[in-house]
Amino acid sequence: MNSGPSAGQIIRQRRSLVACDGRTSIPVERFYRMLARVMPRVELDVARRPMPWDAIPWEPAIHFGLFVHRVDGIDRGLYAMARDPGKVETLKHSMHSHFDWAMPPGCPASLPLYLLERGDARQLATQLSCRQDIAGEGAFSIGMIAEYQEKLLAHGASFYRRLFWEAGAIGQVLYLEAEAAGVRSTGIGCFFDDPVHEVFGFKDLAFQSLYHFTVGGAVDDPRLTTLPPYGRRGAAARPRSSG
Ligand SMILES: Cc1cc2nc3c(=O)[nH]c(=O)nc-3n(C[C@H](O)[C@H](O)[C@H](O)COP(=O)(O)O)c2cc1C
Repeated sequence: MNSGPSAGQIIRQRRSLVACDGRTSIPVERFYRMLARVMPRVELDVARRPMPWDAIPWEPAIHFGLFVHRVDGIDRGLYAMARDPGKVETLKHSMHSHFDWAMPPGCPASLPLYLLERGDARQLATQLSCRQDIAGEGAFSIGMIAEYQEKLLAHGASFYRRLFWEAGAIGQVLYLEAEAAGVRSTGIGCFFDDPVHEVFGFKDLAFQSLYHFTVGGAVDDPRLTTLPPYGRRGAAARPRSSG
């Protein structure tokens, strides 16, 4: 039986991290588990996919470029993950040809995660995310990369909005996974997309950097106050008994 906190508790307590401690690492097993939760499992019909991917009625179009800084058990560096295993080859052909595409040790076969290049990517990640330290001082950060031109041509301009919905859903899952793992995360809307494309080697409109995300050990800001969610409003809204 799972003795950890309930989903409700994690949902109510989750907060964005406003600063990272620059020290906390996460075990690689936890890293793989977090990433597995954002895999929609395209081999299943949409209605049978794991929550919340059963609520997204289009095939996944968002993949990851990752900056791994502090994950115990794997090398630091640049990684890529395809959220649809069938897209690995397309990504490979769109990215720099010198990348390794090596499966990291212990990575479950169901997780299409690959080491592209070993190295310290902390400064790079920070610079790419508008020089925000949270992107370099966590355990890892992510550039969410959208399948772009082909999707827009196939589905029309309104699909642009859907790409953001998908990225947002991924962010929400990662927020909860990070909280459950005892670390925290933050969505990063400020980043430089052209330099992101240069780092990974994207040269045309086939892929587009859409949203960034960071996960790491949080430093609380004492100026912020946290109040119990829903408490007062919930009490006021409760219907009175007429009997
Ligand atoms: C789409 C989006 C983009 C964001 N961009 C940034 C960002 O660039 N830098 C940052 O520090 N926080 C960013 N945040 C985090 C917000 O500041 C944070 O979610 C907000 O302060 C609410 O805090 P909470 O998540 O603890 O409720 C972003 C959040 C979202 C949803």
